[in-house]
Amino acid sequence: MKILVTRNLPIDLSDLAQVAEVEVWPERQPPAYEWLLEKVPEIDGLLCLLTDRIDRTLLEAGQRLKAVSQMAVGYDNIEIAAATARGIPVGHTPGVLTEATADLTWALLLSASRRIVEGDRFTRSGQWQTWEPDLLLGADLTGATLGIVGLGRIGQAVARRARGFDMRVIYTSRQRCDLEVEQALGVEYRSLEQLLSTSDFVTIHTALTSETHYLFGDRQFQQMQPTAILINTARGSIVEPAALYRALQTGQIAAAAIDVTEPEPIPMDSPLLTLENLIVTPHIGSASVKTRRKMAEMAIANLLAGLRGERLPHVVNPEVYS
Ligand code: DGY
Repeated sequence: MKILVTRNLPIDLSDLAQVAEVEVWPERQPPAYEWLLEKVPEIDGLLCLLTDRIDRTLLEAGQRLKAVSQMAVGYDNIEIAAATARGIPVGHTPGVLTEATADLTWALLLSASRRIVEGDRFTRSGQWQTWEPDLLLGADLTGATLGIVGLGRIGQAVARRARGFDMRVIYTSRQRCDLEVEQALGVEYRSLEQLLSTSDFVTIHTALTSETHYLFGDRQFQQMQPTAILINTARGSIVEPAALYRALQTGQIAAAAIDVTEPEPIPMDSPLLTLENLIVTPHIGSASVKTRRKMAEMAIANLLAGLRGERLPHVVNPEVYS
């Protein structure tokens, strides 16, 4: 059997090498789509990343494919319906990156509210002359309202951390959670409009789907408070970049901190990068040593199960088994 791994992983691949011939794309940049398309007819298993486009054409060309295993929890780069139609199970890595992503969300929330990145730039550029009563004033977290858009695993982990800051937490999601979950987390359900108009901080933790694409546009920013801060560690395309620029530039909202952009990487000539009140990190929500290792292990376990003809432990399209 042959397996293609589309990037060097932070883990030993000997488990895979015991059952198949393993080819690893060696470059730092992802392989071109055309290269993948050429390779896919020869392989039995594909271990891919969110930077690989796995569409219908590619899946149809993968006549020998027994499984696609993505090293990420999100899978918006994969045409799941096409995989299901071909009977190919798709694996992903839920759970193991929840805490790391919630931590990064809080790192961004604190950085934006207390202007950490601006402060660092200020110091390094030699502008720190004295202690000033009104230097780099930010927003308090204690007592503030945190609005969580999407209360799945990561949204809930973010909510749990808010307790330590004595924040009021409200949330919105496609489906309202059970009362026990709401009570255990100390969160209250709101419509998106209510959440936007009353939150001091809005943090996005929803998957990218056709329904959430550009969920944040001009209208949503107009509903937010001028002191509000937006955090996005989910997917860039949930927020319309031009609308975010207008909101930050005109002071419709106070600041934003985003770990994901549209497109990725953010173009160096993006007007967003001219803004002082925006922090941008390079999609590092799950980037802790332990987390990335666990994600790789899980992706390998999914792929091995697929190659053995067993059910993937973490399958995105369980319909393939019915
Ligand atoms: C995911 O897993 O979907 C993250 O975006 C990357 O860890």
